[in-house]
Amino acid sequence: MGVGVLRAYKEFLPITDATPMISLGEGDTPLVKSNRLGKELGCTELYFKLEGCNPTGSFKDRGMVVAMAKALEAGSTAVMCASTGNTSASAAAYGAFCDLPTYVLIPKGEVAMGKLAQAMAYGAKILMLNGNFDSALFLVRTFTSRHPVTLVNSLNPHRLEGQKTAAFEIVDALGDAPDFLFIPVGNAGNITAYWRGFQEYHDAGFSRKLPRMMGFQAEGAAPIVRGEPIANPQTIASAIRIGNPANWEGAVEARDSSGGVIDMVSDDEILDAYRLLASKEGLFCEPASAASFAGLVKLHRQGLNLAGQRVVCILTGTGLKDPDLAVSSVASQATEVEPNIEAIEAAALLVTAKS
Ligand code: F0G
Repeated sequence: MGVGVLRAYKEFLPITDATPMISLGEGDTPLVKSNRLGKELGCTELYFKLEGCNPTGSFKDRGMVVAMAKALEAGSTAVMCASTGNTSASAAAYGAFCDLPTYVLIPKGEVAMGKLAQAMAYGAKILMLNGNFDSALFLVRTFTSRHPVTLVNSLNPHRLEGQKTAAFEIVDALGDAPDFLFIPVGNAGNITAYWRGFQEYHDAGFSRKLPRMMGFQAEGAAPIVRGEPIANPQTIASAIRIGNPANWEGAVEARDSSGGVIDMVSDDEILDAYRLLASKEGLFCEPASAASFAGLVKLHRQGLNLAGQRVVCILTGTGLKDPDLAVSSVASQATEVEPNIEAIEAAALLVTAKS
């Protein structure tokens, strides 16, 4: 409980005697059984993995702790990443914890406020790019190849090593792998990492089966689905607004060897899923995270029979990352009231009658 992923899964990670066993308490996130939405989809066993419960509010912490520990072990003096927001928040937090200067390159105007606030509070050196995530990633790759600064995007192999531990936790919680794993796809590192995790645990004898990997991109940022890079990706789910994923091949391999799919969902489908998860399950995730559940809803609508199937949807980040979107897109409205009991009763009873 709460020992961090380096200690919890030491034997599956690239840890040596010289690796500092750092932790901000990442991993060991809840796997919550659906109370309402699963029934509506005819799925008796639907679970949500709440990766927003990690210390910086997203799954990135699992990989970042390994990347940072290995950077320290190698004597690195600074780290750098490009990010749509969550990677930069995570890098900045672990950089602060480890006293490693952290440079983050983010697309100007495209990062949700909560994520930007985190990078600032943790004290990262923030570079705002007049360009998109794909150009930011290209630039940090070039920069780190020229200077003694460690790249901590998921091109750093230690990132995916850490992220695969979420698959271990799912098998540990369920006693086996699920039948289907629904997951958002942006830069495609996470789906690659999960597939690796499920395979390693299976090979080690901890699970009998392997899940079908069901990855979902946003319609306006779906290069893998369309089979070619997208020059100007667009979606409300800014975390996965990516036109040329770094781990493209890993995602395709996960799809093909698991018998899964990489498909896409529209912004409206993402927003519907985002609202449903919050209002019918009490799960407030960020829009990109809702792409996993939106994908499940889409396939159910297309006739996928979920009876007797065990399904896990990964909710990759907390909804608090993007409060502006939450306020502008949810159904319930606040009612103004005077500070007396009659006004409260009138307003509350009116609301009860309406609902
Ligand atoms: N969900 C969230 C909340 C994310 O922040 C990301 C990626 C993804 C899903 C997609 O995961 O890239 O491994 O396929 N965010 C990166 C970032 C790109 O910079 O924070 P992926």
